[in-house]
Amino acid sequence: MKLRVAVIGLGKISEAHILGWKRLDDAEIKVLVDSDGARAEGKAQEYGVAESGTDFNVILERSDIDIVDLVIPHHLHAPYSIAALKAGKHVLVEKPVATKLSDAEEMIKTAESTGKKLMVAEPIRFNPTIQRAATIINENKIGRAFHFTTRGEFYVPPLRFQGTHTGWRGDAEKIGGGVLLESGIHNLAIARFLLGDIEWVSAFEAPRTRNELTVEDTISVIWKFKTGATGLGSFSWATRWLNGVGTAFNVFGTEGVTGSDPQTGRIFLEKDGEHIEWTDASDGPYHGHFAEIKHFVDCIKQNKTPATDAVEETKTLKVILAAYRSAQQNKPINVDEFRE
Ligand SMILES: NC(=O)c1ccc[n+]([C@@H]2O[C@H](COP(=O)([O-])OP(=O)(O)OC[C@H]3O[C@@H](n4cnc5c(N)ncnc54)[C@H](O)[C@@H]3O)[C@@H](O)[C@H]2O)c1
Repeated sequence: MKLRVAVIGLGKISEAHILGWKRLDDAEIKVLVDSDGARAEGKAQEYGVAESGTDFNVILERSDIDIVDLVIPHHLHAPYSIAALKAGKHVLVEKPVATKLSDAEEMIKTAESTGKKLMVAEPIRFNPTIQRAATIINENKIGRAFHFTTRGEFYVPPLRFQGTHTGWRGDAEKIGGGVLLESGIHNLAIARFLLGDIEWVSAFEAPRTRNELTVEDTISVIWKFKTGATGLGSFSWATRWLNGVGTAFNVFGTEGVTGSDPQTGRIFLEKDGEHIEWTDASDGPYHGHFAEIKHFVDCIKQNKTPATDAVEETKTLKVILAAYRSAQQNKPINVDEFRE
């Protein structure tokens, strides 16, 4: 039987989720839900889904829903995930896993006690280009990796933080953090995927420049991996230039360099005076999302642990929360020892 899905939250990135579900033979979207009923009805028509709704709690009571896909504001990730797991649903929840460590830990516990799958939507792990970089590193093509750099520097228009649907981003309690939590989380997920866990983190916040924001718009982060390798990241929503970059990164090794071209995203390897580039097979901007959704269904059907389960993605959240603590206290923070 097909797994029956309710997608909750029909904002910007919901398209990637809806199109991802629609590609699968072993899953079907039963209902599209948004607190704005007109939006829900419009999206249901647009994507050919028979039913729309406005109330998440109604979905929890339905026995014909197996999976709840949460594409909603950050402050709702934890309460909605926990309620859905307790109602016997498998849960796919957008990043960040939660805005607080205690909430993320509660989500992990609830997934364990209910036996339902809980996966965080972190598409970079499923992106073929990032996987290419991982293969290059794992096959020892650049020798021992000793330094990682990454940039997420771009400009986000003010409207993205205002209005009925996206106004939650302008509320510090609801969004939980700024550019680092919302965008830099992908860069840190790449860092951890390629070079492993992070031991120490330091961060400095730039003076805030954007009145429509109540969270940081620019932050510099340095860190040390458990391997001893170092990391450096620059993250901004306020860089008013045409050369915006999202998840560009470089990994420097004792025998070569790999990374992504900031503009094209192509993965390169430079070694022995040679420069090689790859554009891995991609079927568009949502490639990572499509593969992530398929992975989730495979994990449910084969009873496997998702690669980006809440345990894994809480490790990235912890680095971010520790970076915020560092910026507040002007000192490096040990990530394992970080407590709220
Ligand atoms: N993986 C990625 O590349 C990526 C990209 C963008 C956003 N995201 C994440 O996806 C999530 C959603 O972001 P977005 O940009 O799609 O959202 P958005 O801000 O564009 O829209 C949010 C939607 O949620 C709806 N909503 C709010 N409260 C609701 C509720 N209680 N019940 C049902 N619907 C509700 C709003 O009406 C709105 O339609 C966030 O966690 C964000 O960080 C991920």
